[in-house]
Amino acid sequence: HFSLLFLYPILVKQASFEEIEMAVVAAKPHILVACALLLLTVRCQASPFWPLEIGYYHDKCPQAEAVVKGVMEKAISQNPGNGAAMIRMLFHDCFVEGCDASVLLDPTPFSPTPEKLSPPNDPTLRGFELIDAIKDALEVACPGVVSCADIVAFAARDASCILSRGKVNFQMPSGRRDGTFSNASEPLKFLAPPTSNLSDLVASFVIKGLNTEDLVVLSGAHTIGRSHCSSFVSDHLNTPSDINGGLAAFLRGQCPADATPGGKDPTVMQDVVTSNKLDRQYYKNVLSRTVLFTSDAALMTSAETARMVVENAKIPGWWEDKFEKAMVKMAGIEVKTGYQGQIRKKCRAINH
Ligand code: HEM
Repeated sequence: HFSLLFLYPILVKQASFEEIEMAVVAAKPHILVACALLLLTVRCQASPFWPLEIGYYHDKCPQAEAVVKGVMEKAISQNPGNGAAMIRMLFHDCFVEGCDASVLLDPTPFSPTPEKLSPPNDPTLRGFELIDAIKDALEVACPGVVSCADIVAFAARDASCILSRGKVNFQMPSGRRDGTFSNASEPLKFLAPPTSNLSDLVASFVIKGLNTEDLVVLSGAHTIGRSHCSSFVSDHLNTPSDINGGLAAFLRGQCPADATPGGKDPTVMQDVVTSNKLDRQYYKNVLSRTVLFTSDAALMTSAETARMVVENAKIPGWWEDKFEKAMVKMAGIEVKTGYQGQIRKKCRAINH
């Protein structure tokens, strides 16, 4: 331990090159090796997003993030719903088995009921073909390098930036590996339904390491995309609720009273004011009771969350900044590294 003191001028004192050289020469070679390893460990753990890091593909596949962005720009210009799909996909991936692309796996004889066939995902979760298109482009650029879990995270980040016209603009740490397990029972355990009250919603976030503010901030994603009528008709439209009268009348015109998943079940925009823009309009809608789900309206049922809704609605730039951080936090849930996962060749199937 005494010999390690030669590190003192390097680490603590702002030593000159000469001083460092003298210290290094004075140290014995095997101690140097030990110290190199020590420094490497310190460096590896230095990422605030550990085990993920920003720019993980910088050397492995320098064009990786640009490839994802290119495909996303085209897809969103064709249909903004593609952006909404990716943001929801990240949520549904990360809350179940961690951010490991388990939601993308297709059924097989060995695993006939994966997550994507579970009611929270089937038939409403969309965007699987878009992930395939991104993966295909990446397999051409750098075969076997970029995980499907990282693709979902990058795609959700790019969707946020494009749909907010650059106002939600952040770096997404990467280095996730893809999971090999997916079961339809899991989404039912971890994805709270739209009929949930506030305490159930908070509990579903806390169990994943997210807090009440993360819940309020991430719910703001309901400023874009669509919902099937069956997701809100029975408990928020057809039963007494505080839903805005004008919105209720509009929705009754759009939705059959008996809308059921898989049956006659049209879709409506979630944010009737700025449908395809990722902005703070959601919070204004929560305040004017112009939201679709019981779970959206629930944000006004405690003083703490109501205060957050008001802040997000009123202060320009406030929500965008918080959303960036909350997305990175969500994208770090229970990520797999090393032998816990693999880099899938196809996002719909595990490697043999
Ligand atoms: C807090 C609990 C949440 C509940 C109960 C919930 C529920 C729902 C439901 C029922 C839909 C409509 C699905 C359909 O019928 O097609 C939906 C859509 C959507 N959700 Fe959530 N959600 C929650 C949180 C989140 C979070 C955290 C995000 C992302 C950060 C998110 C992003 C979206 C997006 C973008 C859509 C539109 C998807 C599309 O257009 O395909 N949601 N959500």
